[in-house]
Amino acid sequence: MSSVRSIIEAVAILRAGGLVAFPTETVYGLGADADNGAALAKMFAAKGRPADHPVIVHLADISQLRDWAREIPPDAQKLARAFWPGPMSLILPRTARVLDQVTGGQDTVGLRIPSHPVAQELLKAFGGGIAAPSANRFGRVSPTRPEHVREELGDRVDQVLEGADCEVGLESTIVDLSRGRPHLLRPGAVTRQQLEQVLGRPLADEGFDAPRASGRLDSHYAPQARIIVAPAAERSARAAELAGQLAKVALLAPAGTPPPPGVELIPLADDPILFAQQLYAAFREADALACQVAVVSPPPAVGLGEAILDRLLKAAAPRPEN
Ligand code: TXA
Ligand code: MG
Repeated sequence: MSSVRSIIEAVAILRAGGLVAFPTETVYGLGADADNGAALAKMFAAKGRPADHPVIVHLADISQLRDWAREIPPDAQKLARAFWPGPMSLILPRTARVLDQVTGGQDTVGLRIPSHPVAQELLKAFGGGIAAPSANRFGRVSPTRPEHVREELGDRVDQVLEGADCEVGLESTIVDLSRGRPHLLRPGAVTRQQLEQVLGRPLADEGFDAPRASGRLDSHYAPQARIIVAPAAERSARAAELAGQLAKVALLAPAGTPPPPGVELIPLADDPILFAQQLYAAFREADALACQVAVVSPPPAVGLGEAILDRLLKAAAPRPEN
């Protein structure tokens, strides 16, 4: 866990326009002072992310919401009360304070109050908003451990605050409340069913007029290894078949699963909560072992399973660059 001293150092770095990576309950964020244009530019450069992609502003508590969102509709109040602090981000109309670099020039801002104790300590000590995308290079898998952040960003980040492995392991649920009817932009650990229960009505599914969101590009969240999604009953056979054709094949399946000849077993639980926690580390392991393909089976696509399937399909999507 991070010491008081490391939090004090992190605050000093943020105030001086530097970058601090920190754990949240979803994934690690790459933090910059959301009111400092130069710090934001440094953050986009460190990620290699196009400057017109908006980033989420992290806050310590609900009392700060008014500084960043000019309207907080009743639906937003309900969701905030039910799920913050926690793994959910809300898209709301922005105030004049919010820099264009944060929003990609859009009239809305993404806001999140994380629950992770290190994130909470940092946000409380800093006092302002911390803009933080996931702490990976653009288009790559989000980090769920401090060593992943160092692998991704090296000395492009001034400090990495440490926490235990991220509890959720997948990026936050994003709900857009800026366009009347609530839209689910990215499924996450706060599930569709939970959101609809609190809202008392169904969420709208995203249409073609979706605002820019890098998490919505196909082939996002992708490791180097090609991802093959197969039902659990067929995964071993599929891996065996691929091993006959390719040099290095990984099977992401529960520990103890006997791997077919020539296949590398990378442990990944079938239980959805554990699956989500372990998935991105398993992707990284497949790359560390230089596997060309990785075969993986999604849990049922309900609840947290919807977010898991979303990330697996994005990882499995065809990639323009290879
Ligand atoms: O769990 C998370 O959300 C993590 C942790 C660090 O908080 N952050 C994260 O950030 O995943 P990032 O930048 O990797 O993904 C945020 C997504 C992006 O797809 C971005 O385009 C979208 O949120 N987003 C941010 N602001 C938005 C806005 N105003 N309108 C629409 N989408 C927005
Ligand atoms: Mg990201």
